[in-house]
Amino acid sequence: MGAGRNIPKIVPWGRSLDEYERMFALSDVDRQKFILGCGDGPASFNAEWRAAGGRVVSIDPVYRYSANAIASRIDEARDLIVANTLTNMDAYVWEEMQSIERLVEIRTKAMNAFLADFGSGGNSYAAAQLPDLPFSDAQFNLVLCSHFLFTYSELISTQMHLTFLREVLRVAGEVRVFPILDMDGGPSPHVEPVYDSLTSEGFEISVERVPYEYQKGGNEMLRVRSRRP
Ligand SMILES: C[S@@+](CC[C@H](N)C(=O)[O-])C[C@H]1O[C@@H](n2cnc3c(N)ncnc32)[C@H](O)[C@@H]1O
Repeated sequence: MGAGRNIPKIVPWGRSLDEYERMFALSDVDRQKFILGCGDGPASFNAEWRAAGGRVVSIDPVYRYSANAIASRIDEARDLIVANTLTNMDAYVWEEMQSIERLVEIRTKAMNAFLADFGSGGNSYAAAQLPDLPFSDAQFNLVLCSHFLFTYSELISTQMHLTFLREVLRVAGEVRVFPILDMDGGPSPHVEPVYDSLTSEGFEISVERVPYEYQKGGNEMLRVRSRRP
């Protein structure tokens, strides 16, 4: 995501539908699903997915604020992320983004699309946060979680990762998490214990290669599925 050690807390920063499609290997079958985006922040995924006829609800604690207030927080995040990325250029793959200016342009376009949609998106956006989702059991088919779990490995313990994942698996039969690296681009120490615990609890869990890589080596998602009774 371009954050790093100089970024002390979780900041709003958003990606596009094109990036979500590749991070989560979204297929034509997935287009029929009712999706929950967990921690979608200012990503344009929700706006673009709905515009294309898809069904999605996004939750994020930042949705309790107005679009103007979120825009101010994005401006602060942008400065931090640019400064941090400039000191860690080698940690990223630049083939697609090409330059920091282009990266900021692509992300800003996505976040502006979110800001334009947020005010009129109604109940497609809910101010809520893990570990307590205001939804019924199995209300969704699929949960997507981008750049929140595993990314913030220093701030979120293994136990909290497990609590968060059990909660999303209560509201949907499947969750996909991307990436499985921490924000410094190293392997998250939580992946293995989470994998082992959820496997022993009876979930089907796999690590799968996806056609997206911005953090070097960040081209895998974690997929967890409930086994049908
Ligand atoms: C780096 S942003 C990622 C945004 C988006 N998913 C993307 O990849 O473009 C991380 C998001 O996690 C949200 N967040 C923080 N704590 C959360 C929690 N407990 N439950 C859900 N989301 C949370 C933040 O508000 C922020 O918008």
